[in-house]
Amino acid sequence: TILILDFGSQYTQLIARRVRELNIYSEIHPWDKCPEITENIKGVILSGSPFSVRDEKAPNIDLSNIKGKVPLLGVCFGAQYMAHNYGGEVAASNTREYGRANIVEHDLENELMQGVPQKSQVWMSHGDSIKSLPNDFYTIASTEDVKNAAYAVKNEKTYGIQFHPEVYHSTDGSTMIYNFVVNISGCAQDWTPDAFVDSTVDDLKKKLGNDRVILGLSGGVDSSVAATILHQAIGDNLYCIFVNNGLLRKNEYEQVLESYKGMGLNVKGVDASEQFYAALKGLTDPEEKRKAIGKVFVDVFDQESKLVDQAKWLGQGTIYPDVIESVSVTGGPSQTIKSHHNVGGLPDYMKLKVVEPLKLLFKDEVRRVGKSLGISPAILGRHPFPGPGLGIRILGEVTADKVKILQEVDAIFINELKTAGLYDEVWQAGAIFLPVNTVGVMGDERTYENAVALRAVTSTDGMTADWCHLPYEVLGKISNKIINQVKGINRVTYDISSKPPATIEWE
Ligand code: XMP
Repeated sequence: TILILDFGSQYTQLIARRVRELNIYSEIHPWDKCPEITENIKGVILSGSPFSVRDEKAPNIDLSNIKGKVPLLGVCFGAQYMAHNYGGEVAASNTREYGRANIVEHDLENELMQGVPQKSQVWMSHGDSIKSLPNDFYTIASTEDVKNAAYAVKNEKTYGIQFHPEVYHSTDGSTMIYNFVVNISGCAQDWTPDAFVDSTVDDLKKKLGNDRVILGLSGGVDSSVAATILHQAIGDNLYCIFVNNGLLRKNEYEQVLESYKGMGLNVKGVDASEQFYAALKGLTDPEEKRKAIGKVFVDVFDQESKLVDQAKWLGQGTIYPDVIESVSVTGGPSQTIKSHHNVGGLPDYMKLKVVEPLKLLFKDEVRRVGKSLGISPAILGRHPFPGPGLGIRILGEVTADKVKILQEVDAIFINELKTAGLYDEVWQAGAIFLPVNTVGVMGDERTYENAVALRAVTSTDGMTADWCHLPYEVLGKISNKIINQVKGINRVTYDISSKPPATIEWE
């Protein structure tokens, strides 16, 4: 394991990803909750931070159990922190350095720099520089403006890098990370999807024994992979529940249920559409709609789980970004914990223990694990779809009629994206039912019908997103098909807002 101590940099997760891409396991912990340094930890990386080390409120960590004992790499703030704390000088740069720079000189003999070519491009993002290094520290790379762009410490496996080796624009950054984690820390590159499946199945067997587990399937990637790996461990002691909330895509309920059964899962489909529609009746406020949907979901799930005798565990498809404690730097409480309730937050009285087999994985790793479990690409490559489903894509009151119309529109849109070979390039796509009627003319008749909006975005994690520049011909074809085939719609618009300031969903 590589331990990454997070000082609040926006790039900390990227460091973890770079390490994991080398098939080496890494874990992020907040700097003030450093776990015990056991033999398992082969190396430690200190992240960047929005703080300056000269700031009074800057994070302050005792490295005496780590420095000189375990291989240690400081990145940006991490590098400055060590320089500052061990007797060097860190001061504001004369010119603040952001963006592209090139290494003009480096010590090829140094093990961290091996294989890094001359003039290698690196990405800087800092307002401070290391003006002088502590005794025992020496420079191993410089750029035009920054003499101490990277350093090492005599007779120790301790290093600092001022730039960001983890970002894509540092062209040889991954070589430096490789040098640190493989050559210097001696990690074996054996953390593969297959190895993950084997060890997780073993752990789950030990942990769960003959206990029964209930899991709510959503049709999405995370819950499908979680269910499959649990099923490998405990077989039919896993009870899956797939709820039709009446707000799914066209034919999705039947198709997904079918494919789950094909996978050998013990799954019960529960059609609760009418319950959801009844709860949504008369509601127009987005938050009230979300709450109503969440509440019915909990009720249905609760009722169904009571039918499973002696269930002790609740399985969830929680993944790593949902559980990382991120360091808040904007004042307020010093930490925020992002928690995510895949099943909408269960009532306390259910008294189930929670088992989350994927909680250490990033999304793309979940897909790789899914592939190694033999789950079909059709499930693994699915676009994200919100829990409240079409309920938050029908603006205003939700009715069964509107759901039917929107399902048709959405199906045409998604099928045409697939036909055009664009589905996998788009991160998420869907249609929105607008609460306005507009005038149109069909044949010689005046129409006064609803308008829909199409939304397609690119993104990596849904936190930020841009609208997709879909080809006009494809958009034209989709619009024609929708207006000609879907009764009740006479106008199609395309959403060209990015997130921020808009969001992906309209509600
Ligand atoms: P927004 O609209 O916040 O959406 O930009 C970001 C991502 O989250 C999805 N989303 C949800 N997913 N329950 C979910 O499971 C929800 O209530 C929910 N709201 C939004 C959205 O589809 C997008 O992928």
